[in-house]
Order: sequence, then C-alpha cells, then structure tokens
Amino acid sequence: MTVNGDEVTEEVEPRLLLVHFLRDTLGLTGTHWGCDTSNCGTCVVWLDGEPVKSCTVLAAMADGHDVRTVESLEQDGVLDPIQQGFMECHGLQCGFCTPGMMMTGRALLDRDPHPSEDTIREAISGQICRCTGYTTIVRSIEWAADHPAGDGADNTEGRPDAADAKQVEEVS
Ligand code: FES
Ligand code: FES
Repeated sequence: MTVNGDEVTEEVEPRLLLVHFLRDTLGLTGTHWGCDTSNCGTCVVWLDGEPVKSCTVLAAMADGHDVRTVESLEQDGVLDPIQQGFMECHGLQCGFCTPGMMMTGRALLDRDPHPSEDTIREAISGQICRCTGYTTIVRSIEWAADHPAGDGADNTEGRPDAADAKQVEEVS
C-alpha cells in the first residue's frame, strides 16, 4: 500500500486492523483508536480518497491501495486550512476526536467547498466528540471553507463566538 504517499510493504497477521497497523507498525499515532464498536470515528483515515473508519478495515484489505492519515494534512510546514480552522475556532478540547474530525472535514470540503451547517453536521454524524464540542467543530470546518487557501485572514468578523475562543486561547 501507499501511506501518505510512501510505499509501504509489511508482513501482517490477517486479523490485524488498519488502525493498529498505522499506529503500532508504522508509528502514525495521529490516527486514534477510541472504541471497540465502530461508533466513535476517531480512527477515520482516507482509503483511496474516501474517509473510512480504519478500525473496520483489515490492514490486508488496504493492499494495493492509497491510505492517507492526519499526518498528511500539513505540507512542508504549512497547515491545511482545516487544521488552521480548528486552531482559529477552538475546535478541540481534549483533542482525541480531532484527527478523525479533520479528515472527514477535509474530505467534505474537497467535495463540497461551501457546505451548509446541516451538511457539515451530517458529515460528522458518524463521529463522536466525547467533550461534546460540536458547535466549535462545525465552526472550524466553516472557517476552512471560508479560507480555502488557509491565508490566515481574520475570520472573526461577524462571528462573536470565534472571537471569544481566540481570546480564551490568548489568555491561556
Ligand atoms: S475506533 Fe471507534 S470507530 Fe474506529
Ligand atoms: S475534543 Fe475531546 S473528544 Fe472531541
């Protein structure tokens, strides 16, 4: 398979899940493992460009396919706009759900650059934020939609809650 653009060849047990292959074999611990029931979505990666829960895919099933993890979002030291959005809008609390949320958000924006709030909520509906920060997660994805080049322009105009979040970050 290729993982984040690099060819990877390994002998694996047939039962090994992709999430464990990424984390334990390749050391790509940005992909999280949060449940045993395929419910939480912290493990979302892309398989041939499609977001999938990597705990529902055997590593062997990715043979010959292209896998992208959250580590692939930043390029040459520049954050993807979806990553910037989570920073700007305080889209994380403990951060455990964040990699999966960002991978789903990025995939959504690649298909629908200007999704409605309902569309964003539907896109992330298969994922759980145990800190329950859904409002700021949605706002983070909206920020990325508004800043496709990730230009860092001030996005707080007209978004008082986002401005509040920035102040909180500054204070802390
Ligand atoms: S680890 Fe919970 S859905 Fe994959
Ligand atoms: S930020 Fe803690 S689980 Fe989502």
